[in-house]
Amino acid sequence: MTTMVASPRSVFPEVASDIPAEFRVGPSEDGLRYLANGQVAIWSGPRETVLSPVCVGAPGTARPHTMGHYPLMTAAEAGAALESACEAYDHGRGAWPTMSVAERIRHMEAFIPRMQAAREDVVRLLMWEIGKPLSDARKEFDRTVDYIRDTINALKDLDRTSSRFAVESGFVAQIRRSPLGVVLCMGPFNYPLNETFTTLIPALIMGNTVIFKPPKHGVLLHAPLLSALAESFPPGVVNTVYGDGRVVVGPLMESGRVDVLAFIGSARVASILKHQHPRPNRLRCVLGLEAKNAAIVLDDADLELAVRECLLGSLAFNGQRCTAIKIIFVHRSLADAFVERFSEAVGRLVVGMPWEDGVQITPLPEDDKPTWLAGLGEAAMRGGAKVVNPGGGTIDQTLFYPAVVYPAPLEAEICRVEQFGPVVPIVPFDDEGQVLDWLELSPFGQQAAVFGRDARRLGALVDTLVNLVCRVNLNSQCQRGPDTFPFTGRKDSAEGTLSVSDALRVFSIRSLVAAKADPGNERIVSEIVAGRHSKFLSTDFIF
Ligand code: G3H
Repeated sequence: MTTMVASPRSVFPEVASDIPAEFRVGPSEDGLRYLANGQVAIWSGPRETVLSPVCVGAPGTARPHTMGHYPLMTAAEAGAALESACEAYDHGRGAWPTMSVAERIRHMEAFIPRMQAAREDVVRLLMWEIGKPLSDARKEFDRTVDYIRDTINALKDLDRTSSRFAVESGFVAQIRRSPLGVVLCMGPFNYPLNETFTTLIPALIMGNTVIFKPPKHGVLLHAPLLSALAESFPPGVVNTVYGDGRVVVGPLMESGRVDVLAFIGSARVASILKHQHPRPNRLRCVLGLEAKNAAIVLDDADLELAVRECLLGSLAFNGQRCTAIKIIFVHRSLADAFVERFSEAVGRLVVGMPWEDGVQITPLPEDDKPTWLAGLGEAAMRGGAKVVNPGGGTIDQTLFYPAVVYPAPLEAEICRVEQFGPVVPIVPFDDEGQVLDWLELSPFGQQAAVFGRDARRLGALVDTLVNLVCRVNLNSQCQRGPDTFPFTGRKDSAEGTLSVSDALRVFSIRSLVAAKADPGNERIVSEIVAGRHSKFLSTDFIF
């Protein structure tokens, strides 16, 4: 792999005027705002500087653009946020957990237009803070708004089925879902809005109170939403915490007062957080962790289609998706043709700044990521692989030109770890059993993508693959969506299942009121319902 030195071809803007006016940002101190106990406050303590992966300057001297700061909170502020969330929940007696489902839905509906008003600001910050291409940033925002609407509809459905009484074996009962308590939501940097909100929204709407801590890269984009959250939900129902995870998250977990951990990130961090909680039986977890999704290109695959889907699957947003295809197994009879076409397609990808039309490869936000990726490629080359695409692996500051590594040795690190970046190992195979063996030994088990045409062979392969991973994609790249589909993984890849409707279940528990069906109890239950004396015991139908 090579490192690009000062080059006249650098794609970074040299001066601010090279950036379209509508996409320029800061520096701004808006990131110092935080939400505590229903108020948007401004932080005046120690702060962290946010550097964009987008560099500005002449070739060879371009430096990351300074975007502003976010609060470096301490255990004291984390404790205050926890206190606020616990108070709002008040052991299930707070206004929010005891509110009727219809009322909570009204709060959520009020949040949507307020959130939408911040769309352009959030999208711009997504581009600068994590290098997300403009169209993907817009998609992330719109998909999140759709997710909120779908969540509301799913809850209405759930509530409608719960709004009737069960009469069984001499009992009359009503069974509904109740909140669990205080939820800590932590999303990842690659989908800092969407993957935070896909836990935050269902957690809230089910009546829990929430503390959310944004990922290290992807903090500032939440600032434009704080007022919308403060205006839409009662005080203490949503609280934000910023800073070093070890400083602010450790004490939250150690307090034993977090009831649900919703975390999307590394298995290492998830394991530390879980172990910090003193009451493991009380803690519920929903975790989205690492993955190493394999594409398997069989000898009868449609080559064009396989190349197209594998390209999208492995390199969309620089391969920084937990669902990305992170290793491609190709039947030896097709391998050379596949590698040639795949490399050509990689060569056509547009490398540039997030706001540029059609851009696909953009600067990487993680510290020293290009160097680490180059190391993965170099280790594979020592094992006999080559970077087969021209310019692959070239580094220009925070940019890493995608590298296609072939034939990648299975014992190399690139075939074992989640690269979460634009390096694509391709491995030839002779027999499907070799791929199944690799999958069996892999610590991960999220998804796989199989390319082929023979229904009999595909059917047999599917039957094994569904027991090794949780989603098998036929002639299609791996992905999370549509968001109504279950999103989960086996082994070290996940705990719990998320989808619009599953998430409502994850953040709640079934509770019931039951009575022996004698005339006295029937009269009392009827009176409670008719007199609207309870929000739980109710036959109200939400339209
Ligand atoms: O990073 C993990 C995301 O949930 C992937 O979602 O497949 O829609 O890109 P996606």
